[in-house]
Amino acid sequence: MTKYVWDETYAVDVDILDQQHKVIFDSFRKIGSAMADESDGGSVPSLLDAFDIYCKVHFFDEERVMETAGFPSLEPHRKQHELFINHLELFKTSHSFAAKRTQDQFAIIAEWFIHHVMTYDREYADFMKR
Ligand SMILES: [Fe+2]
Ligand SMILES: [Fe+2]
Repeated sequence: MTKYVWDETYAVDVDILDQQHKVIFDSFRKIGSAMADESDGGSVPSLLDAFDIYCKVHFFDEERVMETAGFPSLEPHRKQHELFINHLELFKTSHSFAAKRTQDQFAIIAEWFIHHVMTYDREYADFMKR
């Protein structure tokens, strides 16, 4: 998970949202290594709970920013956030049953988020620059 490092290519140029994206990227690395480190397996559920809450706060803030800016594609974007949270919550449940098999699934969640930043989040960033 060392590749999950935020850099300027991910910037949406809204300071609070870029800061939150950085924290989320950091969480991918932190949770990824806690999963890889068998002796640290005990910390994974609480890291995932904190991550879930943080993502909800980020999505809430991001949706407010888009709303205030009058971004026209807010609804499909909101739907993507909902899908992510549903997926993450399913993942948390499955992790509690089969902790060792879920590292790859968590990598998919991380890739999904990064793809979302580069596509959906990029869309409002471009809109706000106009
Ligand atoms: Fe975002
Ligand atoms: Fe987003």
